[in-house]
Amino acid sequence: MSGRAFLDMLRAFDRNPLMIRIHACVGITFVACAALQFWPGLRRRHRTAHRRIGYVAFVSLICLPATGLACAIVYPFAGPAGIPPNVFWLTCILTCAAYSWRAARRNDFLGHEIWITRATAMSMGAVSLFTLYESAFVHWLHLDPHVATAAAFWCGQADGLLAAQLWLSRKDGPLARRRAARATAR
Ligand code: HEM
Repeated sequence: MSGRAFLDMLRAFDRNPLMIRIHACVGITFVACAALQFWPGLRRRHRTAHRRIGYVAFVSLICLPATGLACAIVYPFAGPAGIPPNVFWLTCILTCAAYSWRAARRNDFLGHEIWITRATAMSMGAVSLFTLYESAFVHWLHLDPHVATAAAFWCGQADGLLAAQLWLSRKDGPLARRRAARATAR
């Protein structure tokens, strides 16, 4: 779907596998931890486990976009055009992670949930980057794979963030509960 030129781009992994393997290991660690962290039953019954796994998850959440940026530099995905979107999303993810951490330390668990949901959704959103946008841009818009990757780098995390906002804004969701709590406090 993404064309032969895209396959050639992927061959760069064989020539220099270290960075992509590190990135994949960090990604697997984060996804496994996040699945446990978002499981309400585990949170309710094993608070200490949530805290311990949380520290591992935070470290992998920070390393994931950092190694992603390193991959965008090492591999010939999009050239220099691939750097700005990766730096932008790295900054967004780290900012959300920092706010989530600060909220947990202040016992503001609604804030913790809101910010970590955004950070997680952006990180997971990167999955749609190559599976959805790359092939759509190459197949239907006939973009050069390098240009398509640069465009896809912008879209992947954006749709994750949008999905998180929709999920958080649901009726009786965390944003509604936080608004209600603030109104009561006033
Ligand atoms: C990837 C997702 C998550 C990560 C990495 C994470 C990480 C953490 C960390 C590191 C702590 C301990 C903070 C401290 O030492 O004070 C913590 C505490 C907590 N988190 Fe999360 N968390 C995640 C998701 C969630 C979600 C979705 C909720 C849902 C509301 C939540 C609710 C809590 C609560 C209630 C505590 C306090 C536990 C306690 O000290 O008794 N977390 N989290």
